[in-house]
Amino acid sequence: MPFPPRFLEELRERVTLSQLIGRKVKLTRRGREFLGLCPFHHEKTPSFTVNDDKGFYHCFGCGAHGDAIRFLTESEKMPFMEAVEHLAQMVGLSVPQMTAEDRQKQETLHNEWAVMEAACSYFQAQLFSPRGEKARNYLQNRGITKEVAQAFRLGYAPAGSGLLAYLTDKGFSLSVAAALGLVVESSEKRARHDYFYDRVMFPILNRRQKVIAFGGRLLEKGEPKYLNSPETSLFHKGEQLYALSNAVDTIRKKNEAVLVEGYMDVIALHSAGFTNAVAPLGTAFTEQQLKLLWQACDEPIICFDGDLAGRKAAVRALYRALDILTPGKSLRFVFLPDPFDPDDMIRKKSPQAFQEALNGAQTFADTLWNTLLENRSIDTPERFAKLEKDVTDTINRIKDERVRLSYVRNMKNRLWRLAHQKKRENASVMFRVPGSILRPTEDRELRLMLAYLICYPQQGQKILESAFSPRFQTPILQELFEKVSQRLVEKPDITGEALKTYITDEAKMPLPLEVEMIEKSGKDPMTVQKEINKWLDSIRLKTLYDTKKEKLKLFAKNQTPELWQDIKQITEEIEKLEALE
Ligand code: UTP
Ligand code: MN
Repeated sequence: MPFPPRFLEELRERVTLSQLIGRKVKLTRRGREFLGLCPFHHEKTPSFTVNDDKGFYHCFGCGAHGDAIRFLTESEKMPFMEAVEHLAQMVGLSVPQMTAEDRQKQETLHNEWAVMEAACSYFQAQLFSPRGEKARNYLQNRGITKEVAQAFRLGYAPAGSGLLAYLTDKGFSLSVAAALGLVVESSEKRARHDYFYDRVMFPILNRRQKVIAFGGRLLEKGEPKYLNSPETSLFHKGEQLYALSNAVDTIRKKNEAVLVEGYMDVIALHSAGFTNAVAPLGTAFTEQQLKLLWQACDEPIICFDGDLAGRKAAVRALYRALDILTPGKSLRFVFLPDPFDPDDMIRKKSPQAFQEALNGAQTFADTLWNTLLENRSIDTPERFAKLEKDVTDTINRIKDERVRLSYVRNMKNRLWRLAHQKKRENASVMFRVPGSILRPTEDRELRLMLAYLICYPQQGQKILESAFSPRFQTPILQELFEKVSQRLVEKPDITGEALKTYITDEAKMPLPLEVEMIEKSGKDPMTVQKEINKWLDSIRLKTLYDTKKEKLKLFAKNQTPELWQDIKQITEEIEKLEALE
């Protein structure tokens, strides 16, 4: 509009509507309003009202409704500009020419970025105002400090239409605010009100730190828990990731991104030092989002909630990525214990526990394999053939030829091993664990240990001497471990090659997948020895922590000198080991 801000408002204020309309329609006063025969439709009894205070006319017969300008454009068919000039003359205002500065100001107030920025500052200010107390307490209870709230520009949208009033007061364009989903028009009343109502506000920023949308969380139970901005010209859900602008530097530096489900997960992780966490925005993880992450790192880690919904979403992400894998670009997966989400892991367990979960991230291939085997038995030729078919069909979806061929080899290998597993019953049991075979991370650590033992039996002897007895969750691995230990007792000088031959040819058992990985890494025996020692120390340390805890509990009930002696000894050993770390 080619007028400086506020000009039209002033014009409307100065015009006495009943005078303007009174020239054309015979009006009689009725209380605070005037009544007359409607000029917009034919009628015999008057239903046309004019209200000078509000500056509006309204016809109860035909619904005609508007202000002074509208009256002229509708009843006299005047063009808008002419109507404005006519009214200006009538009240003795001159129609101002826009100065360059005015135009600039006008543009700013209509600028979408400026409106979003104003809304964000408004919500932030509300959070730290007296009205924001409830929201501040809420955030505090969820462990969010003031610093973190400020870093993420969190805010509060109070009940009522405070934002609308604020934007109006500052002269911002309400139609822009409406187009951005900040205020909504309710159809019957022709009134506008705020979209976000009594919610903690999470602004969503783009890569250049500009506010493009908001998510708002209810303070109490209710639906929907999170309300997000609708799709607007600035906000395309599937193409954005929450907190990417904060996280991208760390993602590049560590070549690692952690993708979690929710706003709160991201914030909890960033507060705990995992500044490479991002989240999709209340939608399924999209291809565009994955490509965004691949621009910054090679293998983003998917770490959704540990509940069934989270696991399913992770598997969907896996299948979405499958088609578009390219050499070097993949995903990894962390499955948290049910029903933990990353926020719970940090708060109810510890940041270390979350780090450990990340360390145990499964590769794409392992996760795909596990998913394909999930809830399936392979104890007849037909069932096994179905597995082979499903594996092939799945792999064929990979568009990149090199990656596809690499998967063909990898999966062939796994199928071969599975087919040559002697204990079929075991296999079918193992893959029919209810719910999921996505095994916890401890097992992965143990599998790695077993693989080291097989590849480097000489260095690995220490594992057996350490009086450490692993419990594998997979029976066949337990059996393998026992066979290997036994063989080492029989032949203490055996080489890795000989041991492998013994396993596959004599014992007719499969080699764990990690064996191949270790062979490929080609480490020298010294390094292996060091790694094994370190690994053993950490296992020992874990056991010591547990034992100490148990003994302390006992001691609390029954204070014997023997028990105290034990605890002292354990503590000393812990201190020694910790010093080594
Ligand atoms: P969750 O319900 O797992 O969220 O939804 P959360 O982060 O753990 O929430 P808290 O801990 O109860 O506060 C995960 C994400 O899904 C979207 C949001 O982006 C949320 O962060 N979501 C969820 C919605 O968009 N709307 C909803 O009603 C619920
Ligand atoms: Mn949560």
